[in-house]
Amino acid sequence: MKFLTRCILSGSALLASIGAQAAPTASGFVTTSGQSFTLNGAPYTVVGANSYWVGLMGLSTTQMDQAFADIARAGATTVRTWGFNDVTSPTSTAYYQLWTNGTPTVNTGSTGLGNFDNVIAAAKAHGLRLIVTLTNNWSDYGGMDVYVNELIGQGQPHDYFYTNSATQAAYKNYVQTFVSRYVNEPTVMAWELANEPRCSGSTGTTSGTCNTTTITNWARTMSAYIKSIDSNHLVAIGDEGFFNEPSSPLYPYQGTEGIDFNANLQISTLDFGTAHLYPVSWGQTSDPTGFGVQWISDHATSQKTYNKPVILEEFGVTTNMTGTYTQWYSTILSSGLTGDLIWQAGSYLSSGATPNDGYTVYPNTSTYALETEHAAVLRARK
Ligand SMILES: *[C@@H]1O[C@H](CO)[C@@H](O)[C@H](O)[C@H]1NC(C)=O
Ligand SMILES: *[C@@H]1O[C@H](CO)[C@@H](O)[C@H](O)[C@H]1NC(C)=O
Ligand SMILES: *[C@@H]1O[C@H](CO)[C@@H](O)[C@H](O)[C@H]1NC(C)=O
Ligand SMILES: *[C@@H]1O[C@H](CO)[C@@H](O)[C@H](O)[C@H]1NC(C)=O
Repeated sequence: MKFLTRCILSGSALLASIGAQAAPTASGFVTTSGQSFTLNGAPYTVVGANSYWVGLMGLSTTQMDQAFADIARAGATTVRTWGFNDVTSPTSTAYYQLWTNGTPTVNTGSTGLGNFDNVIAAAKAHGLRLIVTLTNNWSDYGGMDVYVNELIGQGQPHDYFYTNSATQAAYKNYVQTFVSRYVNEPTVMAWELANEPRCSGSTGTTSGTCNTTTITNWARTMSAYIKSIDSNHLVAIGDEGFFNEPSSPLYPYQGTEGIDFNANLQISTLDFGTAHLYPVSWGQTSDPTGFGVQWISDHATSQKTYNKPVILEEFGVTTNMTGTYTQWYSTILSSGLTGDLIWQAGSYLSSGATPNDGYTVYPNTSTYALETEHAAVLRARK
Protein backbone atom coordinates (compact mmCIF):
# COMPACT_ATOMS: atom_id res chain seq x y z
CA MET A 1 0.00 0.00 0.00
CA LYS A 2 2.71 2.41 0.96
CA PHE A 3 4.84 1.36 -1.95
CA LEU A 4 1.89 1.75 -4.27
CA THR A 5 1.33 5.29 -2.98
CA ARG A 6 4.93 6.21 -3.61
CA CYS A 7 4.70 4.85 -7.13
CA ILE A 8 1.61 6.90 -7.85
CA LEU A 9 3.23 10.03 -6.44
CA SER A 10 6.38 9.64 -8.47
CA GLY A 11 4.27 8.88 -11.54
CA SER A 12 2.27 12.07 -11.17
CA ALA A 13 5.42 14.08 -10.46
CA LEU A 14 6.79 12.78 -13.75
CA LEU A 15 3.59 13.76 -15.58
CA ALA A 16 3.73 17.22 -14.02
CA SER A 17 7.29 17.74 -15.19
CA ILE A 18 6.36 16.61 -18.72
CA GLY A 19 3.40 19.00 -18.66
CA ALA A 20 5.59 21.88 -17.56
CA GLN A 21 8.03 21.36 -20.41
CA ALA A 22 5.77 20.45 -23.30
CA ALA A 23 4.25 23.05 -25.59
CA PRO A 24 0.44 23.09 -25.45
CA THR A 25 -1.00 20.47 -27.72
CA ALA A 26 -4.42 19.54 -28.99
CA SER A 27 -4.84 16.04 -30.24
CA GLY A 28 -7.59 14.63 -32.40
CA PHE A 29 -10.13 16.39 -34.57
CA VAL A 30 -13.66 17.09 -33.38
CA THR A 31 -16.09 15.02 -35.40
CA THR A 32 -19.78 14.12 -35.26
CA SER A 33 -21.77 11.02 -34.38
CA GLY A 34 -25.50 11.31 -34.91
CA GLN A 35 -26.66 14.42 -33.03
CA SER A 36 -23.45 14.69 -30.97
CA PHE A 37 -19.92 15.92 -31.40
CA THR A 38 -17.10 13.57 -30.43
CA LEU A 39 -13.38 13.90 -29.78
CA ASN A 40 -11.09 10.89 -29.64
CA GLY A 41 -14.11 8.63 -29.19
CA ALA A 42 -15.63 10.56 -26.26
CA PRO A 43 -18.51 13.05 -26.35
CA TYR A 44 -17.38 16.63 -27.00
CA THR A 45 -19.63 19.36 -25.59
CA VAL A 46 -19.84 22.53 -27.63
CA VAL A 47 -20.33 25.31 -25.10
CA GLY A 48 -18.68 28.70 -24.94
CA ALA A 49 -18.72 32.10 -26.52
CA ASN A 50 -18.15 34.25 -29.56
CA SER A 51 -15.11 36.48 -29.73
CA TYR A 52 -15.15 37.89 -33.25
CA TRP A 53 -12.56 40.49 -32.26
CA VAL A 54 -9.68 38.38 -30.92
CA GLY A 55 -7.93 38.14 -34.30
CA LEU A 56 -8.92 41.58 -35.61
CA MET A 57 -7.76 44.13 -33.08
CA GLY A 58 -4.02 43.78 -33.39
CA LEU A 59 -3.85 42.27 -29.92
CA SER A 60 -0.54 41.14 -28.48
CA THR A 61 -0.18 37.45 -27.72
CA THR A 62 -0.47 38.34 -24.01
CA GLN A 63 -3.80 40.05 -24.64
CA MET A 64 -5.05 37.12 -26.73
CA ASP A 65 -4.03 34.84 -23.91
CA GLN A 66 -6.07 36.83 -21.40
CA ALA A 67 -9.10 36.91 -23.69
CA PHE A 68 -9.09 33.13 -23.99
CA ALA A 69 -8.32 32.70 -20.27
CA ASP A 70 -11.47 34.70 -19.42
CA ILE A 71 -13.54 32.48 -21.72
CA ALA A 72 -11.99 29.23 -20.49
CA ARG A 73 -12.60 30.18 -16.85
CA ALA A 74 -16.34 30.09 -17.58
CA GLY A 75 -16.02 26.39 -18.45
CA ALA A 76 -16.06 26.90 -22.23
CA THR A 77 -14.77 24.32 -24.69
CA THR A 78 -15.34 26.26 -27.90
CA VAL A 79 -14.96 29.81 -29.25
CA ARG A 80 -16.32 31.16 -32.54
CA THR A 81 -14.26 33.84 -34.26
CA TRP A 82 -13.80 35.72 -37.56
CA GLY A 83 -11.27 34.38 -40.02
CA PHE A 84 -11.71 37.35 -42.36
CA ASN A 85 -11.16 41.06 -42.60
CA ASP A 86 -11.29 42.39 -46.15
CA VAL A 87 -9.86 45.86 -46.56
CA THR A 88 -9.19 48.22 -49.46
CA SER A 89 -6.18 49.82 -47.77
CA PRO A 90 -3.85 48.19 -45.24
CA THR A 91 -4.63 48.73 -41.57
CA SER A 92 -2.04 48.84 -38.83
CA THR A 93 -3.90 46.21 -36.77
CA ALA A 94 -4.85 42.98 -38.52
CA TYR A 95 -6.40 42.23 -41.89
CA TYR A 96 -6.55 39.06 -43.91
CA GLN A 97 -7.21 40.16 -47.48
CA LEU A 98 -6.28 43.40 -49.24
CA TRP A 99 -8.19 44.52 -52.34
CA THR A 100 -6.40 46.80 -54.83
CA ASN A 101 -8.42 47.86 -57.88
CA GLY A 102 -10.27 44.58 -58.05
CA THR A 103 -7.33 42.33 -57.21
CA PRO A 104 -7.40 40.50 -53.87
CA THR A 105 -4.19 39.53 -52.07
CA VAL A 106 -4.34 37.31 -48.99
CA ASN A 107 -2.17 38.76 -46.21
CA THR A 108 0.09 35.94 -45.12
CA GLY A 109 2.36 38.21 -43.06
CA SER A 110 2.47 39.00 -39.35
CA THR A 111 -0.61 41.25 -39.53
CA GLY A 112 -2.46 38.56 -41.52
CA LEU A 113 -2.34 34.79 -41.25
CA GLY A 114 0.72 35.12 -39.01
CA ASN A 115 -1.58 36.90 -36.57
CA PHE A 116 -4.16 34.14 -36.90
CA ASP A 117 -1.43 31.60 -36.05
CA ASN A 118 -1.16 33.46 -32.71
CA VAL A 119 -4.94 33.28 -32.19
CA ILE A 120 -4.78 29.52 -32.64
CA ALA A 121 -1.80 29.15 -30.29
CA ALA A 122 -3.54 31.20 -27.58
CA ALA A 123 -6.78 29.19 -27.86
CA LYS A 124 -4.80 25.96 -27.74
CA ALA A 125 -2.96 27.05 -24.60
CA HIS A 126 -6.35 27.17 -22.85
CA GLY A 127 -7.63 23.87 -24.26
CA LEU A 128 -10.20 25.64 -26.45
CA ARG A 129 -11.28 24.73 -29.99
CA LEU A 130 -12.23 27.32 -32.62
CA ILE A 131 -15.09 27.67 -35.06
CA VAL A 132 -13.68 29.93 -37.78
CA THR A 133 -15.97 31.92 -40.08
CA LEU A 134 -14.60 32.82 -43.51
CA THR A 135 -16.62 35.85 -44.65
CA ASN A 136 -19.45 38.12 -43.54
CA ASN A 137 -22.90 38.89 -44.84
CA TRP A 138 -22.60 42.28 -43.25
CA SER A 139 -20.20 44.97 -44.37
CA ASP A 140 -18.38 44.84 -41.02
CA TYR A 141 -14.80 43.81 -41.74
CA GLY A 142 -15.42 43.80 -45.47
CA GLY A 143 -17.48 40.78 -46.19
CA MET A 144 -19.45 39.83 -49.28
CA ASP A 145 -20.08 43.41 -50.39
CA VAL A 146 -16.35 44.00 -50.91
CA TYR A 147 -16.21 41.04 -53.30
CA VAL A 148 -19.26 42.39 -55.14
CA ASN A 149 -18.06 46.00 -55.28
CA GLU A 150 -14.53 45.12 -56.36
CA LEU A 151 -15.32 42.46 -58.93
CA ILE A 152 -18.76 43.30 -60.33
CA GLY A 153 -19.14 47.00 -59.62
CA GLN A 154 -19.82 49.41 -56.79
CA GLY A 155 -23.33 49.01 -55.36
CA GLN A 156 -24.23 45.92 -57.41
CA PRO A 157 -26.68 43.51 -55.70
CA HIS A 158 -25.38 41.84 -52.54
CA ASP A 159 -26.68 38.42 -53.59
CA TYR A 160 -24.57 38.34 -56.77
CA PHE A 161 -21.90 37.21 -54.31
CA TYR A 162 -23.53 33.74 -54.29
CA THR A 163 -23.80 33.30 -58.06
CA ASN A 164 -21.26 35.47 -59.92
CA SER A 165 -18.31 33.46 -61.26
CA ALA A 166 -15.70 36.08 -60.34
CA THR A 167 -16.85 36.53 -56.73
CA GLN A 168 -17.05 32.79 -56.29
CA ALA A 169 -13.56 32.23 -57.71
CA ALA A 170 -12.17 34.92 -55.38
CA TYR A 171 -13.94 33.48 -52.37
CA LYS A 172 -12.62 30.00 -53.21
CA ASN A 173 -9.12 31.42 -53.57
CA TYR A 174 -9.33 33.01 -50.13
CA VAL A 175 -10.78 29.88 -48.57
CA GLN A 176 -8.14 27.70 -50.21
CA THR A 177 -5.28 29.80 -48.79
CA PHE A 178 -6.78 30.08 -45.31
CA VAL A 179 -8.03 26.51 -44.91
CA SER A 180 -4.92 24.86 -46.41
CA ARG A 181 -2.71 26.53 -43.83
CA TYR A 182 -4.59 24.82 -40.99
CA VAL A 183 -5.59 21.45 -42.49
CA ASN A 184 -3.61 19.57 -39.83
CA GLU A 185 -4.48 21.89 -36.92
CA PRO A 186 -6.83 20.17 -34.42
CA THR A 187 -7.50 23.44 -32.54
CA VAL A 188 -9.76 24.35 -35.46
CA MET A 189 -13.05 22.58 -34.72
CA ALA A 190 -14.94 23.72 -37.80
CA TRP A 191 -15.01 26.09 -40.76
CA GLU A 192 -18.05 28.21 -41.45
CA LEU A 193 -18.85 29.55 -44.89
CA ALA A 194 -20.08 32.95 -43.75
CA ASN A 195 -21.53 34.86 -40.86
CA GLU A 196 -25.29 35.16 -41.32
CA PRO A 197 -25.63 34.83 -45.10
CA ARG A 198 -28.79 36.46 -46.42
CA CYS A 199 -30.10 37.52 -49.80
CA SER A 200 -29.85 41.15 -48.78
CA GLY A 201 -26.80 42.80 -47.34
CA SER A 202 -25.72 46.12 -45.80
CA THR A 203 -26.17 47.88 -49.13
CA GLY A 204 -29.81 46.83 -49.17
CA THR A 205 -29.46 46.10 -52.90
CA THR A 206 -30.74 42.76 -54.14
CA SER A 207 -31.20 41.36 -57.62
CA GLY A 208 -34.79 40.31 -56.92
CA THR A 209 -34.03 36.72 -57.95
CA CYS A 210 -32.36 35.50 -54.76
CA ASN A 211 -34.33 32.99 -52.69
CA THR A 212 -33.57 30.07 -50.40
CA THR A 213 -32.53 27.93 -53.40
CA THR A 214 -29.77 30.44 -54.20
CA ILE A 215 -28.11 30.18 -50.80
CA THR A 216 -28.73 26.43 -50.44
CA ASN A 217 -26.98 25.84 -53.79
CA TRP A 218 -24.11 28.10 -52.79
CA ALA A 219 -23.74 26.33 -49.44
CA ARG A 220 -23.71 22.93 -51.14
CA THR A 221 -21.01 24.00 -53.61
CA MET A 222 -18.78 25.76 -51.11
CA SER A 223 -19.02 23.16 -48.35
CA ALA A 224 -18.05 20.48 -50.89
CA TYR A 225 -15.17 22.70 -51.98
CA ILE A 226 -13.83 22.96 -48.41
CA LYS A 227 -14.19 19.20 -47.93
CA SER A 228 -12.18 18.68 -51.14
CA ILE A 229 -9.19 20.52 -49.68
CA ASP A 230 -9.65 19.62 -46.00
CA SER A 231 -11.16 16.31 -44.94
CA ASN A 232 -10.09 16.78 -41.30
CA HIS A 233 -12.47 19.53 -40.24
CA LEU A 234 -16.19 19.94 -39.82
CA VAL A 235 -18.04 22.44 -42.01
CA ALA A 236 -21.18 24.47 -41.28
CA ILE A 237 -22.81 27.52 -42.84
CA GLY A 238 -22.85 30.02 -39.94
CA ASP A 239 -26.38 31.16 -40.78
CA GLU A 240 -29.11 32.32 -38.42
CA GLY A 241 -31.20 29.17 -38.85
CA PHE A 242 -34.28 30.77 -40.41
CA PHE A 243 -37.01 28.35 -41.44
CA ASN A 244 -38.76 28.46 -44.81
CA GLU A 245 -42.47 28.20 -43.96
CA PRO A 246 -43.99 31.03 -46.01
CA SER A 247 -47.39 30.80 -44.30
CA SER A 248 -45.97 31.34 -40.80
CA PRO A 249 -47.06 34.60 -39.14
CA LEU A 250 -43.54 35.06 -37.71
CA TYR A 251 -40.86 36.67 -39.88
CA PRO A 252 -37.94 34.39 -38.83
CA TYR A 253 -40.00 31.39 -40.02
CA GLN A 254 -41.01 32.81 -43.43
CA GLY A 255 -37.89 32.15 -45.53
CA THR A 256 -37.74 35.73 -46.73
CA GLU A 257 -34.04 36.19 -45.94
CA GLY A 258 -33.06 33.30 -48.22
CA ILE A 259 -32.39 30.63 -45.60
CA ASP A 260 -34.14 27.25 -45.43
CA PHE A 261 -32.70 25.63 -42.29
CA ASN A 262 -34.17 22.19 -42.90
CA ALA A 263 -33.07 22.06 -46.55
CA ASN A 264 -29.54 23.11 -45.61
CA LEU A 265 -29.30 20.57 -42.79
CA GLN A 266 -29.75 17.81 -45.39
CA ILE A 267 -26.64 18.82 -47.38
CA SER A 268 -24.17 15.95 -46.94
CA THR A 269 -21.06 18.17 -46.86
CA LEU A 270 -22.46 20.21 -43.96
CA ASP A 271 -21.79 18.49 -40.64
CA PHE A 272 -23.99 20.46 -38.29
CA GLY A 273 -26.65 23.14 -38.23
CA THR A 274 -26.42 26.60 -36.67
CA ALA A 275 -29.01 28.98 -35.34
CA HIS A 276 -28.80 32.50 -33.94
CA LEU A 277 -31.36 34.10 -31.66
CA TYR A 278 -32.03 37.84 -31.46
CA PRO A 279 -35.76 38.19 -30.85
CA VAL A 280 -35.69 41.94 -30.31
CA SER A 281 -33.78 42.83 -33.47
CA TRP A 282 -36.02 40.38 -35.36
CA GLY A 283 -39.10 42.31 -34.18
CA GLN A 284 -40.23 39.59 -31.75
CA THR A 285 -40.66 42.11 -28.94
CA SER A 286 -43.88 41.10 -27.21
CA ASP A 287 -42.31 38.07 -25.52
CA PRO A 288 -38.62 37.77 -26.46
CA THR A 289 -38.00 35.04 -23.88
CA GLY A 290 -40.93 32.93 -25.06
CA PHE A 291 -39.99 33.37 -28.72
CA GLY A 292 -36.53 32.04 -27.86
CA VAL A 293 -37.92 29.03 -26.03
CA GLN A 294 -39.95 28.11 -29.13
CA TRP A 295 -37.01 28.80 -31.50
CA ILE A 296 -34.68 26.51 -29.52
CA SER A 297 -37.32 23.75 -29.37
CA ASP A 298 -37.99 23.98 -33.11
CA HIS A 299 -34.28 23.67 -33.93
CA ALA A 300 -33.98 20.69 -31.59
CA THR A 301 -36.82 19.08 -33.55
CA SER A 302 -34.89 19.55 -36.82
CA GLN A 303 -31.79 18.16 -35.13
CA LYS A 304 -33.67 14.97 -34.31
CA THR A 305 -35.40 14.74 -37.69
CA TYR A 306 -32.17 15.01 -39.69
CA ASN A 307 -29.93 13.37 -37.06
CA LYS A 308 -27.20 16.01 -37.10
CA PRO A 309 -25.89 18.23 -34.29
CA VAL A 310 -27.44 21.70 -34.07
CA ILE A 311 -25.97 24.50 -32.01
CA LEU A 312 -27.35 27.84 -30.93
CA GLU A 313 -24.14 29.56 -31.93
CA GLU A 314 -25.17 33.16 -31.20
CA PHE A 315 -27.86 34.50 -28.93
CA GLY A 316 -28.49 37.66 -27.03
CA VAL A 317 -30.72 40.22 -25.43
CA THR A 318 -29.52 43.54 -24.06
CA THR A 319 -31.92 43.71 -21.11
CA ASN A 320 -33.19 41.07 -18.70
CA MET A 321 -30.18 38.93 -19.56
CA THR A 322 -30.12 36.55 -16.64
CA GLY A 323 -33.89 36.06 -16.61
CA THR A 324 -33.93 35.34 -20.33
CA TYR A 325 -30.83 33.16 -20.47
CA THR A 326 -32.01 31.08 -17.51
CA GLN A 327 -35.07 30.07 -19.52
CA TRP A 328 -33.16 29.55 -22.77
CA TYR A 329 -30.49 27.42 -21.06
CA SER A 330 -33.17 25.35 -19.45
CA THR A 331 -34.81 24.82 -22.86
CA ILE A 332 -31.46 23.80 -24.40
CA LEU A 333 -31.17 21.13 -21.72
CA SER A 334 -34.77 19.91 -21.88
CA SER A 335 -34.93 19.87 -25.69
CA GLY A 336 -31.57 18.11 -26.07
CA LEU A 337 -30.13 20.79 -28.38
CA THR A 338 -26.50 19.84 -29.00
CA GLY A 339 -24.76 22.98 -27.75
CA ASP A 340 -24.53 26.76 -27.52
CA LEU A 341 -22.20 29.75 -27.77
CA ILE A 342 -23.18 33.06 -26.25
CA TRP A 343 -22.79 36.38 -28.09
CA GLN A 344 -20.36 37.60 -26.87
CA ALA A 345 -17.30 37.31 -24.66
CA GLY A 346 -15.68 40.42 -23.19
CA SER A 347 -12.43 41.10 -21.38
CA TYR A 348 -10.71 43.97 -19.68
CA LEU A 349 -7.36 44.00 -21.46
CA SER A 350 -4.34 46.21 -20.81
CA SER A 351 -5.54 48.28 -23.79
CA GLY A 352 -9.03 48.67 -22.27
CA ALA A 353 -12.36 46.89 -22.44
CA THR A 354 -13.03 44.79 -25.55
CA PRO A 355 -15.97 45.91 -27.76
CA ASN A 356 -19.36 46.17 -26.08
CA ASP A 357 -22.32 46.08 -28.46
CA GLY A 358 -24.75 45.82 -25.55
CA TYR A 359 -24.54 42.03 -25.46
CA THR A 360 -21.00 41.68 -24.09
CA VAL A 361 -20.52 39.56 -20.98
CA TYR A 362 -17.47 40.61 -19.00
CA PRO A 363 -15.91 38.40 -16.30
CA ASN A 364 -17.29 38.43 -12.78
CA THR A 365 -20.80 39.60 -13.71
CA SER A 366 -24.01 37.78 -12.85
CA THR A 367 -24.42 36.75 -16.50
CA TYR A 368 -20.88 35.35 -16.55
CA ALA A 369 -21.69 33.34 -13.42
CA LEU A 370 -24.86 32.00 -15.05
CA GLU A 371 -22.90 31.07 -18.17
CA THR A 372 -20.35 29.23 -16.02
CA GLU A 373 -23.04 27.27 -14.21
CA HIS A 374 -24.70 26.35 -17.53
CA ALA A 375 -21.41 25.19 -19.08
CA ALA A 376 -20.83 22.84 -16.15
CA VAL A 377 -24.33 21.38 -16.45
CA LEU A 378 -24.07 20.94 -20.21
CA ARG A 379 -20.66 19.29 -19.95
CA ALA A 380 -22.05 16.85 -17.37
CA ARG A 381 -25.08 16.00 -19.56
CA LYS A 382 -25.18 12.39 -20.58
C1 LIG B 1 -26.69 41.23 -44.15
O1 LIG B 1 -26.18 42.44 -44.57
C2 LIG B 1 -27.17 43.32 -45.05
C3 LIG B 1 -26.47 44.53 -45.54
O2 LIG B 1 -25.22 44.27 -46.05
C4 LIG B 1 -28.22 43.66 -44.01
O3 LIG B 1 -29.22 44.46 -44.57
C5 LIG B 1 -28.77 42.37 -43.53
O4 LIG B 1 -29.68 42.61 -42.50
C6 LIG B 1 -27.62 41.53 -43.05
N1 LIG B 1 -28.09 40.33 -42.48
C7 LIG B 1 -27.58 39.87 -41.41
C8 LIG B 1 -28.15 38.66 -40.86
O5 LIG B 1 -26.65 40.39 -40.85
C1 LIG C 1 -36.20 30.20 -56.32
O1 LIG C 1 -36.36 30.80 -57.59
C2 LIG C 1 -36.15 29.91 -58.69
C3 LIG C 1 -36.35 30.68 -59.97
O2 LIG C 1 -35.71 31.91 -59.93
C4 LIG C 1 -37.12 28.77 -58.62
O3 LIG C 1 -36.82 27.84 -59.65
C5 LIG C 1 -37.03 28.08 -57.29
O4 LIG C 1 -38.03 27.11 -57.18
C6 LIG C 1 -37.20 29.09 -56.16
N1 LIG C 1 -37.01 28.40 -54.91
C7 LIG C 1 -37.92 28.42 -53.93
C8 LIG C 1 -37.57 27.67 -52.71
O5 LIG C 1 -38.96 29.02 -54.03
C1 LIG D 1 -37.47 38.56 -18.31
O1 LIG D 1 -37.19 37.19 -18.16
C2 LIG D 1 -38.23 36.45 -17.57
C3 LIG D 1 -37.75 35.03 -17.45
O2 LIG D 1 -37.14 34.83 -16.24
C4 LIG D 1 -39.46 36.48 -18.42
O3 LIG D 1 -40.50 35.77 -17.81
C5 LIG D 1 -39.88 37.92 -18.65
O4 LIG D 1 -40.91 37.95 -19.56
C6 LIG D 1 -38.69 38.71 -19.19
N1 LIG D 1 -39.06 40.09 -19.29
C7 LIG D 1 -38.91 40.76 -20.43
C8 LIG D 1 -39.29 42.20 -20.39
O5 LIG D 1 -38.48 40.26 -21.45
C1 LIG E 1 -12.57 38.04 -11.75
O1 LIG E 1 -12.37 37.33 -10.59
C2 LIG E 1 -11.21 36.52 -10.57
C3 LIG E 1 -11.22 35.64 -9.36
O2 LIG E 1 -11.91 36.22 -8.33
C4 LIG E 1 -9.99 37.42 -10.65
O3 LIG E 1 -8.82 36.64 -10.66
C5 LIG E 1 -10.08 38.22 -11.94
O4 LIG E 1 -9.02 39.14 -11.98
C6 LIG E 1 -11.39 38.97 -12.01
N1 LIG E 1 -11.48 39.52 -13.33
C7 LIG E 1 -11.97 40.72 -13.55
C8 LIG E 1 -11.96 41.16 -14.96
O5 LIG E 1 -12.42 41.43 -12.66
